[in-house]
Amino acid sequence: MTENITIRPGTNNDHEAILKIAAILTDWFDEDAIIRAIPTDLHFHKTIVAEIENKIVGFVTYTSHEGNVFIGWLGVDNNLHRHGIGTKLIEALEQELLSLGITKYEVETLSETIDHPPYIPTRAFYEKMGFEKGKSREIISTTGEKLELVTYWKNLRLF
Ligand SMILES: CC(C)(COP(=O)(O)OP(=O)(O)OC[C@H]1O[C@@H](n2cnc3c(N)ncnc32)[C@H](O)[C@@H]1OP(=O)(O)O)[C@@H](O)C(=O)NCCC(=O)NCCS
Repeated sequence: MTENITIRPGTNNDHEAILKIAAILTDWFDEDAIIRAIPTDLHFHKTIVAEIENKIVGFVTYTSHEGNVFIGWLGVDNNLHRHGIGTKLIEALEQELLSLGITKYEVETLSETIDHPPYIPTRAFYEKMGFEKGKSREIISTTGEKLELVTYWKNLRLF
């Protein structure tokens, strides 16, 4: 499976395909994310995409704010989870960050204090990728729900 995967930097032409994948990941991304937040962020974030036979099957977006680099959005086609595609996207992202001399980055995700089972594998994924759990913060979602987000961070080694 993973031998057919191509990982490459994304371009503006990939936005539609990225949004199609995001639109099926409704257990993780709410309507506001799919309709507004991801399309907006795609204008500003850098992207890396995974392709199988010229079809985009996964993506990661990343950017920085005041020198802190973070993953914006990450998703793999629902039917292709657990085939190593997310791992390849993270590996490519980390190579890119290291090439820029960046040795720490982070990602914010739903905290385990919120009972929403789809995020159990998401946190397992970040932990397998070597992220460490950091601080949490409360937010109110666009639908008025009180949620808690947790930051996972990772140190990268310069060789
Ligand atoms: C999170 C996500 C990107 C991971 O991508 P993936 O291609 O499925 O992940 P991989 O196959 O590379 O998994 C790597 C490791 O993560 C862990 N992992 C991944 N999925 C898991 C699951 N369902 N249960 C337990 N561990 C899991 C495992 O340790 C796995 O290694 P293994 O298969 O050798 O045991 C993908 O599941 C996804 O798109 N999820 C929905 C969107 C999302 O959660 N985005 C992030 C929001 S912050």
